[in-house]
Amino acid sequence: MTFKLLLLPGDGIGPEVIAEVERVIAWLTTKGARFSVERDLVGGAAFDAHGTPISEPAMKKALDADAVLFGAVGGPKWANAPYDKRPEAALLRLRKDLGLFANLRPAICFDALKDSSALKPEIVSGLDILIVRELTGGVYFGEPRGITKLPDGERRAVDTQVYTTGEIRRIARVAFELARKRRNKVASAEKHNVMHSGLLWKEEVTYVHGAEFKDVELSHILADNCAMQLVRNPKQFDVIVTDNLFGDVLSDEAAMLTGSIGMLPSASLGNRDEKTGKQRALYEPIHGSAPDIAGKGLANPIAAILSFAMCLRYSFAMMKEADLIERAVAKILDDGYRTKDIMQAGKREVGTQEMGSAVLAALDKLAA
Ligand code: IPM
Ligand code: MG
Repeated sequence: MTFKLLLLPGDGIGPEVIAEVERVIAWLTTKGARFSVERDLVGGAAFDAHGTPISEPAMKKALDADAVLFGAVGGPKWANAPYDKRPEAALLRLRKDLGLFANLRPAICFDALKDSSALKPEIVSGLDILIVRELTGGVYFGEPRGITKLPDGERRAVDTQVYTTGEIRRIARVAFELARKRRNKVASAEKHNVMHSGLLWKEEVTYVHGAEFKDVELSHILADNCAMQLVRNPKQFDVIVTDNLFGDVLSDEAAMLTGSIGMLPSASLGNRDEKTGKQRALYEPIHGSAPDIAGKGLANPIAAILSFAMCLRYSFAMMKEADLIERAVAKILDDGYRTKDIMQAGKREVGTQEMGSAVLAALDKLAA
């Protein structure tokens, strides 16, 4: 079986971290795995080359691929690009056109890094939570939207938060199913005290729970309280399911608990086609393009490498290989390898490529 991968490195540190993933792909190939790898431009890089943040041929490749590995997009260079051509628009289009409604954002605190968190080590040590963010609905895509000019010269901006029962039920199912493979707990975060969409969210999550997932422990939490509880006592959570906008905010907060946003992967998944078994998927590090350190060889490639491990697990059912990569990462952290973003006194500071090499060396050892 040959898996079709599309690499979209993008902007800023995206190409540097995806280059390290390519070395891991090459390593797996020497062990007998088969991938056919295509590449294309996305974000500012695509805008510079084609005048659009993602070209139609690139979109077609993404639709055809078994999985997309995405780096990062954006940077000050494109701050004045037209709004619909901004680098981030490519990511939103990929999510929408590929139907990637389920965004999985684990926040795991590696033991070696528990002192790097802004929170006390005892609060984050052993932390392993999963944010399941709805990714193709809500205020990100709701209509009407836009800025209009009023007769009196004032301007008025509108965005629309909108959810249907179907959208809520399918993301709830993803969260409950994932919880069953973990600690069997789901917290659903919304604002039913202020928003109708929050009220429907709460009712529909409750419905799906009662109808299909009574064995899973469900709690409801207001999104603002969830933000607070995440810094007060994050280990109370297992899976958090929430909408697109709250998920955007809460997942950044959760990421920071772990000590480095440079460490965290994510997966965005579509529906599995009953007939073909195909499930569209995109994997990306959550750190973004970090233009301030781009091109300097300082970026931490671990989030991208762990995103590839998620790809192996969720898209290709290569569980053994995914475990191996995750163990290799834990090992090099234990061995003291640190990029600048996670550097600690007495550890060994390395650049992007050296970190990649350390992962490969650990893979060699673990596979021997
Ligand atoms: C994320 C990012 C994106 C989002 C941006 C880049 C459009 O913040 O993936 O969390 O808001 O969804
Ligand atoms: Mg975000």
